[in-house]
Amino acid sequence: MSGSLEPQLGTQPPAHTPVLLEEVIGRLAPRPGEVHLDATLGAGGHAAALLARLGPSGLLVGIDRDREAVELARTRLEAVAFPFRVFQGVYSQLAGFMKLSGLPQEGALDGALFDLGLSSLQLDRPERGFSFLRDGPLDMRMSRGEGPSAAEYLEGVSLEELERVLREYGEEPAASRIARAIDRARRKAKLETTGQLASIVEGLLPRRGKRTHPATRTFQAIRIAVNKELEHLRLALRDLDRRVKPGGRVVVLSYHSLEDRIVKETFRERARQGIWRVAVPDPLVPGPDETRRNPRSRSAKLRSVVRLGAREP
Ligand SMILES: C[S@@+](CC[C@H](N)C(=O)[O-])C[C@H]1O[C@@H](n2cnc3c(N)ncnc32)[C@H](O)[C@@H]1O
Repeated sequence: MSGSLEPQLGTQPPAHTPVLLEEVIGRLAPRPGEVHLDATLGAGGHAAALLARLGPSGLLVGIDRDREAVELARTRLEAVAFPFRVFQGVYSQLAGFMKLSGLPQEGALDGALFDLGLSSLQLDRPERGFSFLRDGPLDMRMSRGEGPSAAEYLEGVSLEELERVLREYGEEPAASRIARAIDRARRKAKLETTGQLASIVEGLLPRRGKRTHPATRTFQAIRIAVNKELEHLRLALRDLDRRVKPGGRVVVLSYHSLEDRIVKETFRERARQGIWRVAVPDPLVPGPDETRRNPRSRSAKLRSVVRLGAREP
């Protein structure tokens, strides 16, 4: 957490530490009176720091598909006491949320932040079903209760599709063996807990190192499939062309190579077309201090672009 920029939150400890906070705020450069989007509110750490800089004449629009995150962020933003609107939903439906916020559909945003992946609120609660370290129901839905859970997904997915998901979304070299082992296990009994899934993978793969649990890639892959994460990301990034005004800034924090590749390629293509200027050619990453204080930040990569057009600074 970056000392001076961390919003004052009273006595409650923050549930999720915002990653690269100074760099995010520096790149978004929020000014009083501007309109900014936080597409992934989480616990509202970045959002509160942004809102504090927008002042009484600005507006922050916040989105999260997780209802609990929206409520937590709302409480933090209320403490800042400047105008904001928060919505539960997916960021690929930004147009609707802009309309509900009274904003024009075209070029209304001065800044947009996407902090991808999961929050500690989700990871640290075994009942959300994301953790292979602590047993819980095999859920993995960011929008709790919406769409099929991981257990339902694993019940219905074909062996071939499961292998593809593990290979592509998990970049798992043992995709075929793991898919077949999951298939054998589900024929015997429905997979209902994260512990069951983790032990299937552990039974097949030796531990690669002290830090990496053998089920890491499998959990990542299934989570991405259950939440259709990459589809939403592709749609949302393309949609930004219309929503951000000339001179507007976009920052994306990604946490694994699949996400980062989509972000990098989308913006490079758009830069070639003269729509965006890539503001950071090489991604910014947390330094040793931050990764020591917040080990979950260690895989983060920050990319940033500026919308080109008449008002580009
Ligand atoms: C890393 S956390 C954000 C943390 C936040 N920046 C903070 O400072 O607390 C990512 C959040 O994005 C949300 N999320 C992921 N995919 C989403 C999507 N397609 N639409 C909306 N929210 C999404 C998750 O539910 C999660 O709360």
